[in-house]
Amino acid sequence: MATSAFARLPGFRDFPPEDLALRSHIQEAWRRVSRRYGFLEYDGPPLEPLELYVEKSGAEIAGQLYAFTDKGGREVAMRPEMTPSLARILGDRSRGMSKPIRWFAMPQLFRYERQQRGRLREHFQWNADIVGEDDVAADAEVLAVAIDGLRELGLTAADFRARVSDRRLLREVLRAQGVAEDRLAAAFGIIDKLERMPRDKARAALVTDAGLGAAEADALLDFFDSADIAAVQTRFGDRDEVGVELERLKQYVAALTAMGLGEYVEVDLRIVRGLAYYTGIVFELFDRQGELRAICGGGRYDRLLELVGGEPLPAVGFGMGDVVLGELLAERGLIPAYARSLDYFVVSISAEQRPEALRIAHALRDRGSSVAYSLKEQSVTKQLKAAAREGAREVLIVGPDELARGCVVARNMGSGGEREIALSELS
Ligand code: HAM
Repeated sequence: MATSAFARLPGFRDFPPEDLALRSHIQEAWRRVSRRYGFLEYDGPPLEPLELYVEKSGAEIAGQLYAFTDKGGREVAMRPEMTPSLARILGDRSRGMSKPIRWFAMPQLFRYERQQRGRLREHFQWNADIVGEDDVAADAEVLAVAIDGLRELGLTAADFRARVSDRRLLREVLRAQGVAEDRLAAAFGIIDKLERMPRDKARAALVTDAGLGAAEADALLDFFDSADIAAVQTRFGDRDEVGVELERLKQYVAALTAMGLGEYVEVDLRIVRGLAYYTGIVFELFDRQGELRAICGGGRYDRLLELVGGEPLPAVGFGMGDVVLGELLAERGLIPAYARSLDYFVVSISAEQRPEALRIAHALRDRGSSVAYSLKEQSVTKQLKAAAREGAREVLIVGPDELARGCVVARNMGSGGEREIALSELS
C-alpha cells in the first residue's frame, strides 16, 4: 500500500469516524453534566497573545507553548489551556454580569509535550468554572461536576478518586515546619513532584531549595507519607492558622459527602498543581490503580482575573482531558461499540425508478430520517450489501410493479420481515 508523503505530526491525532465517535461520546456526556449543573457553554479563539500565558500559567506551560510571530509582527501562541482565555473574556464583560458566572467549554488545546503515555501535543479539555463566588460551596460544586462527568461515562468510585488539598493549608503546614516566606514557592514545587522523586533527592531539595535543616526535611517527608486530615490534625492541630484552613477543607469534604460523593474524595496535601495561578483548594482526579496520569485537575484561582486586567473576582474550576480518560474507559470496557446506522437505504430495481427513489429519499430526509442510496446504478444485490454495510434499519425497495400499485416494499434488515408502504405516506 502506498503511504502518504505527508506523515501526521507526532502527538497529533486524526479522527476517522470510528475515533470521532469516542470523542463525541465523551463530549456529549460532558455537555449533559454541565447543563445539569446550570453551566453555560462558551468558547474563545485558539490563538491568543503570547503574553497571556507567560507568567500567568507558570514555567511548565510557558516552556511547552506553540508560539510564533504572526505576519503582523504580533507574538502569539496556540492556547495551551483555557483558563487565561476565560479570564481575558470575562475581563471585558464581567462587570455587567450577575454572579456567580457558571461557564463551561470543550476547547482543543496545544502543548509541545515530551511524548509519553497519556500526553499528546493536542487534546480536548472540558473546562467548568464558577466565577464570582468565594464560598467553599463553589469549590465543592465544581469538584462534583468533574466527578459526575466521569460517572456519566460509567466510571464508579472503584475506578477513580479525587485527591484534594488546599494551598493555603499547605502554606501554613510548611510555615509551621520552618519554611521561610521567600522559600514557600520552592517548597511547593518540591511537594508537587514528591511522588515522582526518590526520597533522598527530595530531602536534598528541601535542604538546598527550601532552606530546611536535614532533620526538619526528614520530618516533613514523614508527614507527607500520609498527608490527610488526621495527619494534619495530629501534627499541626495546635496551631490556630492551621486550624482555620483545616476547617474550610473539612466543610468542603462535608459538602461533597452530603451530595453522596464522599467515597470519591481523599484529602492529600501532596496535591499542589503545577500551574502558578492557584490560590486555594486544588484537586486532581486519578484512576484508582494509579497507573495513569491525572484525568483532571483544577482548583481555586482568586487573583487571575485581576491579573489579566479585569474585575477582581474569585474563581474556581477544572480541566479534564480526553486522552487519559479515553485510556481509562478502554481499560474498563466502557467504550461503546462503534456501529454505523441509518434509518433507510433506498434501493431502485432499475434506472427507471431512480427519480421516484430520489423523491422518496428526500421526503424522508425532510422529515428528519437518515437516508442513503447507491450513487451509481448497481444490481439490487450490491445495493442490499451497501445497505447492510451502512447499518440501515430498513431498506425501501422501489420497483415498477409496486410503483404501479402506489407503494414501495420496506424490508427490515434485522428480521427480514417485509411490509408495504403507500407512496402517499412518503410524500
Ligand atoms: P492541567 O492540569 O494543565 O490544568 O490540565 C488538566 C487536564 O488536561 C489534565 O489532568 C490532563 O487530563 C489533560 N491534559 C493536560 N495536558 C495534556 C496533554 N498534553 N495531553 C493530554 N491531556 C492533557 C489546566 O489546564 C487548568 N487550566 C485547568 C483549570 C480550569 N483550572 C481551573 N480552571
